[in-house]
Parts: sequence; structure tokens; C-alpha cells
Amino acid sequence: MTKYGVIVGSIRKNSYSKGVADAIVAGLPADADVTYLNIADLPLYNQDLDENSPAAYTTFRKAVAEQDAIIFVTPEHNRSIPAALKNALDVASRPWGQSVWGGKPALVASQSISGISGVLANHVLRQSLVFLDMPTMQQPELYIANTDKLADETGKITNESTQSFLAGAGKQFSEFAAKFIN
Ligand SMILES: Cc1cc2nc3c(=O)[nH]c(=O)nc-3n(C[C@H](O)[C@H](O)[C@H](O)COP(=O)(O)O)c2cc1C
Repeated sequence: MTKYGVIVGSIRKNSYSKGVADAIVAGLPADADVTYLNIADLPLYNQDLDENSPAAYTTFRKAVAEQDAIIFVTPEHNRSIPAALKNALDVASRPWGQSVWGGKPALVASQSISGISGVLANHVLRQSLVFLDMPTMQQPELYIANTDKLADETGKITNESTQSFLAGAGKQFSEFAAKFIN
């Protein structure tokens, strides 16, 4: 059974990014073991804390380490990824030499209520994943635009063709990830 960690870049209640993540997860195999990894309560990464890390860092690093594959869904904040998401990447990448990201296959999706679909955040995230040594699914690219027109007020994706597209991407990711999992 494959363990999928889901990281939603928005910490907002009723997040559209969470809705997109749920729609991707719907396409994973029925026996997928899915855990949403909370990034909202991580203190800002501080290298001084490498030697005596707060429990929140340790818990998050352990949770990431336990996953076989990671699904990232992010909104775009000021043409980049949200600070909470970057912080989570940093926390689990350290102490130096003890990153827990390396080798884990990744999916990246972005969404925006605007027409540009978070494409810049998508690629900013991909840039970090290169350095973190995470093989990342290239196709289909997942740029969801005008998400508020595709979802209800709770963030749930209600547009049927978008649901189908995202579930299909989830299925494709399960096949991609399997190539990297022993
Ligand atoms: C601080 C901030 C900055 C934003 N910057 C962008 C941006 O650069 N590009 C964009 O398309 N939308 C931007 N938005 C709007 C987001 O696309 C929108 O809030 C997002 O779809 C919400 O995602 P969520 O529901 O997962 O929180 C910004 C929103 C916030 C709160």
C-alpha cells in the first residue's frame, strides 16, 4: 500500500487548494494510504533550532519521512509560493544532510482565483523540488485557473470536467510514483 502525503500550500479554512487536493486524491487507487500533512503550526524555520528542534519540527519531519510520495497543491501569493509552504519545505530539509524529502516522487498542482492559475507558484515550487531531489511528474501540468468558478464556498471542486481532469492526474501520479517506490 502506497503512502501519499498531501501538502496544501494554503492554511485558509475553505481553501480552494484543499479542494483541488481532494479532487486529485479521488483518483488515487482505492487502497492508497493518504495523510494530509499540516503545515500551519510550524514555527518559522531557524537554523539555531537544528540541534534542539521544537516538537512541531520533529513531528513534521517524521510525518514526511513516513510517506512514499508527496502531493503538493499551492495557491500563488505575490507571484510565489505562500510563506507557510516554503517554511515547511525548509523545516523538513534540515538539519543539513538529514533532509527527508530526497527521492520521494512528487506531484505539483497550482490554482488561483485569477486567470493565471498560480503558474508562477507552480514553477517556484518545482525549482525547490529540483534541489530537494524529488522526482516530479511533468505531465499533465496542473494549472487550475478561476477556481472560484469551479468550486463551492467550502472549496470543494464541483465542476465535473475539472473533477475528472484532477482525478485522472491522481491516477497518473500513482503510476508515476510506483516507478520510484520499492
Ligand atoms: C497574500 C496573497 C497574495 C496573492 N497573490 C496572488 C498572485 O500572485 N497571483 C494570483 O493569481 N493570485 C494571488 N492571490 C489570490 C489567490 O489566487 C487566491 O487567494 C487563492 O486562489 C486562494 O487559494 P486558497 O483558497 O487555497 O487559499 C493572492 C492572495 C493572497 C492572500
